[in-house]
Amino acid sequence: MNPSHQHALKVVAKTSATIALVSTTLSTHAEPVSQLTPAGWLPHFESMIALAIVVTAALIATLLNHPQPKTRAAGTVLAALSCFGLVAWFVAALSTGVIAEPKAFQVPMDGAKPALLWIQIVLAFAGGVALLFTVKQQLKTSSELKLSHANEAERYGRTSRILHWTTAILFIFMIPTGIFSSMIPEDAWFRTEYNVVHKTIGFILFALVVVRLIWNRRSKRPRLSKALKPSERTLAHIAHIMLYGLMLALPITGYLMTSFHGYSSYFFFIEMEPFLPESKAYIVWGLFHKYLLQYVIYIVLGSHILGSLKHHFVDKHKDALGRMVS
Ligand code: HEM
Ligand code: HEM
Repeated sequence: MNPSHQHALKVVAKTSATIALVSTTLSTHAEPVSQLTPAGWLPHFESMIALAIVVTAALIATLLNHPQPKTRAAGTVLAALSCFGLVAWFVAALSTGVIAEPKAFQVPMDGAKPALLWIQIVLAFAGGVALLFTVKQQLKTSSELKLSHANEAERYGRTSRILHWTTAILFIFMIPTGIFSSMIPEDAWFRTEYNVVHKTIGFILFALVVVRLIWNRRSKRPRLSKALKPSERTLAHIAHIMLYGLMLALPITGYLMTSFHGYSSYFFFIEMEPFLPESKAYIVWGLFHKYLLQYVIYIVLGSHILGSLKHHFVDKHKDALGRMVS
């Protein structure tokens, strides 16, 4: 064998050793998460579900702020269908028997989970119906929505609006599905699949809030509506700060709780083993993620949504919801 052949063989051997090493490393970190899934389900179908949910949220957010009124109405119809989709998911979830016979309670407060789920699903249904009613109004207007990407002095621009509504849809989706995930018994095959969807969307929400904070530095946020009373302005301002805090704190506490407990996190089909040593600290982070922050969400998000609806429907201020969507 001449020296050039010998050199070529050495290169091939080195390359195959590197490929073997990389694929072994990847296979320990990116195990097929659907391995226990019963036959008949597509491999990684849970990742496809997560992707479909994220794409739908971004699509609705884009359509809702489209220049053409008919396209905006299509966005509202899709948003209503998503509310009904959540109701349909709940009906399917009821048939699994998990809600009637959940995993053993960790604290007595866990007994409230079925009632919380029912309340949220009734609200989703009511939201879907209300959105369908607004479609009728939207179809009556023929005016184009002229928006720039950057924020203006009195209203949000297209970029902030798309970021707000994509985040809002995903964040709201995470609450009932997160509660249901926490009720699934350890031995149910779909527990991992639910965790994949929840954790993947949780990481995406974290990325979205980081992008939003960066965007806010580049494009100044509009000042709060002049139509608000001073006390309402203070409350709205505090609520906005707390919402940003929640959008950062939930993914962080979720990740720390999972990792300190010794469980993997997922970003679609990529399994990330915890890089933190297993420790009882998971109890503290779990206390935040599962209990404290969840109730803070109800108070802060509840006030935010009711406040903006009151501003629009009761006070009838032109620039209420219209500052963020039209
Ligand atoms: C159906 C649900 C929601 C409605 C109707 C709604 C409505 C609005 C409206 C009208 C504004 C503009 C406020 C103003 O300046 O006058 C706003 C801002 C904001 N919303 Fe929502 N929102 C919803 C859900 C959410 C969710 C789920 C979150 C986050 C978890 C959120 C976070 C925020 C934040 C942080 C702002 C301030 C934006 C900024 O100035 O950067 N919203 N929302
Ligand atoms: C904005 C993002 C997130 C929101 C709004 C959210 C919300 C929730 C909610 C409401 C629950 C139900 C808690 C209960 O009632 O017991 C939950 C459970 C859970 N979350 Fe999150 N979460 C987010 C991100 C994450 C992330 C990034 C992870 C991990 C990487 C995570 C891991 C978990 C786990 C493992 C549970 C179930 C705990 C159990 O089995 O008891 N979450 N989440």
